Amino acid sequence: MRSVLPVTGRYPLQQTSGPSCPAHPAPQARHSKLRSSSQRLPASSGPCWLQKPGSDRKCSREQLHATRQSGLLDDEPTADLRDGKVQSGPDLSITLQGGLVLPNPFVIGSGPPGTNYAVMKKAFEEGWGAVIAKTVSVDSSKVVNVTPRYAKLKAPSNSREVIGWENIELISDRPLETMLDDFKRLKQEFPNRILIASIMEEYDKPAWEELISRCEDVGVDAFEVNFSCPHGMPERKMGMAMGQDCDILEEVCGWINNKATVPVWAKMTPNITDISFPARSALQSGCEGVSAINTITSVMGVNLDTLRPEPCVEGYTTPGGYSSKAVKPIALAKVMSIARIIKEEYAGGRDLSGIGGVETGRDAAEFILLGANTVQVCTGVMLHGYPMVKQLCGGLQAFMKQHDFSSIEDFRGSSLPFFTTHHELVRMQREAINAKKRARQGLASDADWSGDGFVKETESMVAN
Ligand SMILES: Cc1cc2nc3c(=O)[nH]c(=O)nc-3n(C[C@H](O)[C@H](O)[C@H](O)COP(=O)(O)O)c2cc1C
Repeated sequence: MRSVLPVTGRYPLQQTSGPSCPAHPAPQARHSKLRSSSQRLPASSGPCWLQKPGSDRKCSREQLHATRQSGLLDDEPTADLRDGKVQSGPDLSITLQGGLVLPNPFVIGSGPPGTNYAVMKKAFEEGWGAVIAKTVSVDSSKVVNVTPRYAKLKAPSNSREVIGWENIELISDRPLETMLDDFKRLKQEFPNRILIASIMEEYDKPAWEELISRCEDVGVDAFEVNFSCPHGMPERKMGMAMGQDCDILEEVCGWINNKATVPVWAKMTPNITDISFPARSALQSGCEGVSAINTITSVMGVNLDTLRPEPCVEGYTTPGGYSSKAVKPIALAKVMSIARIIKEEYAGGRDLSGIGGVETGRDAAEFILLGANTVQVCTGVMLHGYPMVKQLCGGLQAFMKQHDFSSIEDFRGSSLPFFTTHHELVRMQREAINAKKRARQGLASDADWSGDGFVKETESMVAN
């Protein structure tokens, strides 16, 4: 039997006893759906799909520099991708609501890696499963960016390793017409690849409708609605300001879902007490999926020489959005709570895109184990470059091979049942301690002898 939690090996895959709290029932035997032995991968570890980075491809100087900067990807296996499909090893393809088929679950998250034709083309060429473009709105002239707009947090133990990233970048400042031309060209050149438009507007129904129909006219495959950028746009009651107000969010999602003829994902802000509320509103209003998380409101730091906060523009700053490795634990918690809603209230019939600090295939595996169908990467691409998708796929396949999983659905959501309440943790621990005590004390009565534990029970009552 394969272990879901291999670290300790304490938890069986098909746990038969567990939390008895009605809100958190014992894990279902989800893996009864696991493929039959005839469908299993061959036991031999076909080496062709696991290659060391650098063995068969050349990196640009820029990318080599970026990779060396952290050293993080040096040991990651590299998958051979064609049109985003792995050429051997476990299958990474996924099918989403609305019939969207991705060759692999790795999606470019909205931001600098999806700002224009050149970078999105590069993403498709390198093999990304889908691209979410930088967020667009109808009137880009209202969007004015500043520089510097980024600030890094570096690991104390390695000054080259970036662990946190703040940005005060707004949505796209390129004219909508220009972005639409880029989308059209990309869909003509890559008709079978998935291009998702990230959209944002004010509380203005006609503007949303215009944005949707103009994006659909150029062939985008889906929408991600940005209800979550924490800086700049809330001043116009857009982005996070909308995503924090469930009533407005539900109303706007209603407009969007009445207009859009392709799948719609609502992108959630983590800057809210309980992310399950806006997620539920979005799903109730007909969204096919939810993405989480956008960035976390942050101030990167204060310069102790100048006494000015960073990133500093003309001596001042504004709180920005935090991303990269440091946000992954927060993102996982948010994804877990949305995954539960999708599982319990929609029988799994909605999509979930996990985002936040993903840089390796194993990071992605964690999001998928908590129920995500796709995994987005934004800051990771800014640090390591587009070719990292080969290592993301290779790393994910290595994880899958370790557990004999042959598809994403084989393990998606498998770790979700292992969350319970603190109250239940206390109860289970007390029960385990009592069981150990009983075992040490021997059997209280002859009625307690069991067939399976007979030798141990005998041993527990031996004096020497
Ligand atoms: C510089 C920068 C710009 C971003 N711009 C957008 C954006 O335009 N729209 C959006 O929905 N999210 C935007 N994001 C948020 C990312 O898509 C993502 O949700 C967040 O950064 C967490 O993922 P990561 O740790 O992989 O970057 C941006 C992030 C960064 C770092």
